[in-house]
Amino acid sequence: MAVFRIGAILGLLLTGVWFPALQSREGYEGTQSNGLPLRGAVEHSGILIGTAIRPQRLSEPAYAATLSREFNLVEPEDAMKWESVHPAQDQFDFSQADRAADFAAEHRMKLRGHTLVWHHQLSPWLTERRRSPDQLALVLKTHIQTVAGHYRGRVLAWDVVNEAFAEDGTGNLKNTIWYNQPGIGFAGQGTAYIEQCFRWAHEADPQALLFYNDAEAEAINPKSNAIYAMVRDFKRRAVPIDGVGLQMHITHLHSDTLSIARNIERITSLGLQVHITEMDVAVPVDTAGNATTEDLQHQAEIYRDIAAACLRYPGCTAIQTWGFTDKYSWIGSHSRHRQGAALLFDHDYRPKPSYQALRDALQKRH
Ligand code: XIL
Repeated sequence: MAVFRIGAILGLLLTGVWFPALQSREGYEGTQSNGLPLRGAVEHSGILIGTAIRPQRLSEPAYAATLSREFNLVEPEDAMKWESVHPAQDQFDFSQADRAADFAAEHRMKLRGHTLVWHHQLSPWLTERRRSPDQLALVLKTHIQTVAGHYRGRVLAWDVVNEAFAEDGTGNLKNTIWYNQPGIGFAGQGTAYIEQCFRWAHEADPQALLFYNDAEAEAINPKSNAIYAMVRDFKRRAVPIDGVGLQMHITHLHSDTLSIARNIERITSLGLQVHITEMDVAVPVDTAGNATTEDLQHQAEIYRDIAAACLRYPGCTAIQTWGFTDKYSWIGSHSRHRQGAALLFDHDYRPKPSYQALRDALQKRH
């Protein structure tokens, strides 16, 4: 009990709750809600509360202060993707991603890496020239080992492979440069190419947790069934995999939370972790970017329910949102600005009902 109290007091001091003056110095007062910040709320539960970040925004005081006050896990939204870190075949550029990694270290936050193998946001030098599977395998191995090697010991978990399964309701793999167009030598052999990527990543950073990450596979459906079958097979054959990332981009204010909970249960029953990796809940917005009060309330309930579903399973160890302020969110451009307001803080870094609901859910796990 005494240990708990000392820990709690230390947590409060470190997260800045007792030092509001420190925050107003940064020039934004009144943005913090009453009570513990999110990272304070999870302090004793072992769960990580994270967010995707854009390193170029770290120079904005309210952005940096809200981030470091609320979260204990960060993941670069784009800065570790191929087009950012590998601009030419023989050139790597870690400048932006390192800003994120340094910020995380300075503020005692864990770092998630996103992503080593994806078919989007690749560099033109890679997509514009034809290569044989052998040549492509060497390019990908070099990429994985250089990037994961650069962050060796600093990244808690990597999304090794992202979005490899198709969205067509079949549970089939997507046809991609890495699988079969032309692929790295395993075309037509199912998940063998994914297995190879995990083995390369494990060689490069044996300590990092290795995740398979995907979208629209949160609830039980053909895609999540296929992912489940793959990771169960990997686990049985001791392929180095530690978890599954459920992206959790929620649209139309709809989520089948019971089914999502069943999916989390079956994955964690394999001895794998689940991370909710990219949660946002898009709502309709008017031309000024504003949502209705009812929709924001409904959104808050979804955040609370999803967090509660994760917290029910000890193997669900991180909840991460895809950005934290509605000022910077991919949902606007992605939906041609018909949807937005998807995150926990508004444009002015004020906490929204979604924030309160998430924090309430987090505080229940003690
Ligand atoms: C998105 C970023 O948020 C945008 O900034 C970028 O323009 C496109 O990619 N699934 C993923 C993420 O795994 O990497 C995507 O991020 C969103 C969907």
